[in-house]
Amino acid sequence: MKLAPSILSADFANLATEIEKVSNAEYIHIDIMDGHFVNNLTFGANVVQALRPYTKQVFDCHLMVTNPEDMLNALKEAGADIVGVHYEVCPHLHRTLAKIKELGMKSEVVINPATPVSVIEPVLTMVDQVLVMTVDPGLGGQGFLQEMLEKVSQLAEYKQENGLDFDIEVDGGINDQTIRLAKRAGATVAVAGSYIFKARNPAERLKILQESLNQGKMR
Ligand code: DX5
Ligand code: ZN
Repeated sequence: MKLAPSILSADFANLATEIEKVSNAEYIHIDIMDGHFVNNLTFGANVVQALRPYTKQVFDCHLMVTNPEDMLNALKEAGADIVGVHYEVCPHLHRTLAKIKELGMKSEVVINPATPVSVIEPVLTMVDQVLVMTVDPGLGGQGFLQEMLEKVSQLAEYKQENGLDFDIEVDGGINDQTIRLAKRAGATVAVAGSYIFKARNPAERLKILQESLNQGKMR
């Protein structure tokens, strides 16, 4: 399983030093919020660009914005690797995902807790990653919604039945316990924000997550 520390819970005044602390993770998860699709307002492509020289890790950009299409060119320029758009704000989802691919980035579709897997089935052949939100988007530090595990299993099954190989990512409420449940359900990437960055030692927390995944057999 790949780990994706979310800088939403990091110290915004020292982002470059914060990401250095989690250099062992495969991804850096970047939550772009517009104060419209969600209440919070974070950062945009300019911050992605400013961080790019500090690491070669995969920049996993989660767009919680109302008009994600408007941002795609700038994100490409900034050095984004994966771009995730919410099903709930994309009336032309097929076109938006195709544009991400055309620009040479990896495409991801994201579903809110209240959105079922069935609605994204038509685009599953064209995505590199599916993000199942395990909290309602907008804030760090919320509790993991166990019911979402069913959607992860559904996707894992769909993937196998149809010979597809997209990653399945979970985001929200991930800690050393919930990460095991997500893995068991079939998730291949886990985002963790507050569990890593609200701790005194983020590197140690990352290691605990890795160890928790390797620990014994899961029932
Ligand atoms: C929430 C964001 C998450 C957030 C997760 O809208 O998409 O990436 O950082 O935070 P935790 O891990 O604290 O639930
Ligand atoms: Zn996120």
